[in-house]
Amino acid sequence: MPNTFFITTAIDYTNGAPHIGHAYEKVLADAIARHQRLAGRDVFFLTGVDQHGQKVQQSAQKRGVEPAEFVAEITSLFVELWKKLDLSHDAWAATVENLHKSCVQGMLQRLWDEGQFYKSTQSGYYSVRQEQFLTEKERGPDGEFGPEWGEVVLIEEENYYFKLAEHRDWLLHLIDSRTQAGNPLVIPDFRVAELRNAVEKLTGDLCISRPKSRLTWGIELPFDPAFVTYVWFDALSNYISFAGYDAKPGADLSLFKSRWPALHVIGKDILIPPHGIYWMIMLRALGFTDAEMPTLLVHGWWNISGAKMSKSLGNSIDPEVLVARYGQAAVRYYLLSDISTGRDADFSIERLEQRYNAELANSLGNLLNRTLSMAKRYRSGILRRMDSPLAAFVQEKTNAYDAAMSSYQVQAAIEAAMEIVTRCNAYVEETAPWKLAKDPAQSDKLDEVLYTLSESLRIISILMSPIIPREAEAIRTQLNWQGEASLAAARWGALPEGHQLGEPVPLFPRIETQE
Ligand code: MSP
Repeated sequence: MPNTFFITTAIDYTNGAPHIGHAYEKVLADAIARHQRLAGRDVFFLTGVDQHGQKVQQSAQKRGVEPAEFVAEITSLFVELWKKLDLSHDAWAATVENLHKSCVQGMLQRLWDEGQFYKSTQSGYYSVRQEQFLTEKERGPDGEFGPEWGEVVLIEEENYYFKLAEHRDWLLHLIDSRTQAGNPLVIPDFRVAELRNAVEKLTGDLCISRPKSRLTWGIELPFDPAFVTYVWFDALSNYISFAGYDAKPGADLSLFKSRWPALHVIGKDILIPPHGIYWMIMLRALGFTDAEMPTLLVHGWWNISGAKMSKSLGNSIDPEVLVARYGQAAVRYYLLSDISTGRDADFSIERLEQRYNAELANSLGNLLNRTLSMAKRYRSGILRRMDSPLAAFVQEKTNAYDAAMSSYQVQAAIEAAMEIVTRCNAYVEETAPWKLAKDPAQSDKLDEVLYTLSESLRIISILMSPIIPREAEAIRTQLNWQGEASLAAARWGALPEGHQLGEPVPLFPRIETQE
């Protein structure tokens, strides 16, 4: 296993503003990356934007601006939003960059030189919106191409094709051998079968070019300047071009190899065919070995009352508005706790408000505040280092959290951490420190309670740091604990004898819910 944990997200199309689905995927990858850092691993987290292609060219045309100007404007919306959501990516993949273009051209040239492409004429129905030729199986029961394909035109043109089909048996074998080795190519499991079925049906090759007469906003084929490359060939390559890859024979790949292979976090709509088929075969054709194939972590979708979120339906949720209104902690917490990785979920403002108020404001916020206030009132904020009846419970939940995060089950991980919070709040009620404080004979017991709560909060702050990084840090500041936030430090007993706690400051202001 390489020492670097390399994680990527899908790169978002820059033909429109970001919505909550884009934000979820980025925050999910961010939480996973932050957890790996907590575990002491070197992390390379790459995200970015998909800036070429027909949709972008069309959107720019509609606005009457150059594509470059258009994508710069949309890209800045993503950049600003990711800042507000505290994404901790190490690199930014913007596909108009020269580094990316020349890397993709190197890949194209090499595959061309090695005979992986051929030129051929195809005539048929072409979906302008999906940027692909349609076959008979795309026709609906009424014999027509459905509205999801947008405008469909009959065209005949010469293009370059990538020999996909001849890699079919290899890909089937790869899928099976990875499953047998207990290291499935696709997570969650039920997506493996879905991909396998699609690969079994693979027959055709992939058109990897677009004539410039139709599309100019793309990366030019190095061996034929009358064409640009297909947007998926361009976009998928970001995962290696921005990680130090170079397809030219003899290039120094040591930095790249120290990172690769990646965990690709993607939505369920882009598993088949782009990531599960095109990307795997592209890598193989470039000489990547089976051991160098990445893993696909496929998340589900956020829907609105069971329906797909879309601009045209007017039901798309703007994360910018949510962050302005509720703050990034509420948005991150909701997106990570109200969906199970791999499954779909329904987006609900009411649930966002309820969960924030119940779990962050009431449970966690109150626990922090009452702990620090009681310690201040009864002990001037100074702790004695005591044994605790909760130590074993906290350790058990910390282990459960770590196991869940390591298998990308962020929701389950949050649940484990929040169980500590719930247990601590119950413990306050059971022990009633306000009564203990009145009885000098209970002095040790009071110290035990205050130490237990403070030490639990210190550990909770570490566990919550991948989820709500800013607030987790604020908890540590209030506890006046300057130690390193790492899983190694999430063991019972790090607050020393005589530790002076900080001042209580309300952390999660309640959301006034709308009637
Ligand atoms: N540009 C391509 C990906 C190229 S990757 C080399 C693309 N862009 S996208 O903007 O349409 O989608 C970006 C990501 O957001 C995808 O992984 C997609 O699944 C995800 N989501 C889009 N809508 C979503 C929801 N409603 N819910 C969750 N994720 C969704 O595809």
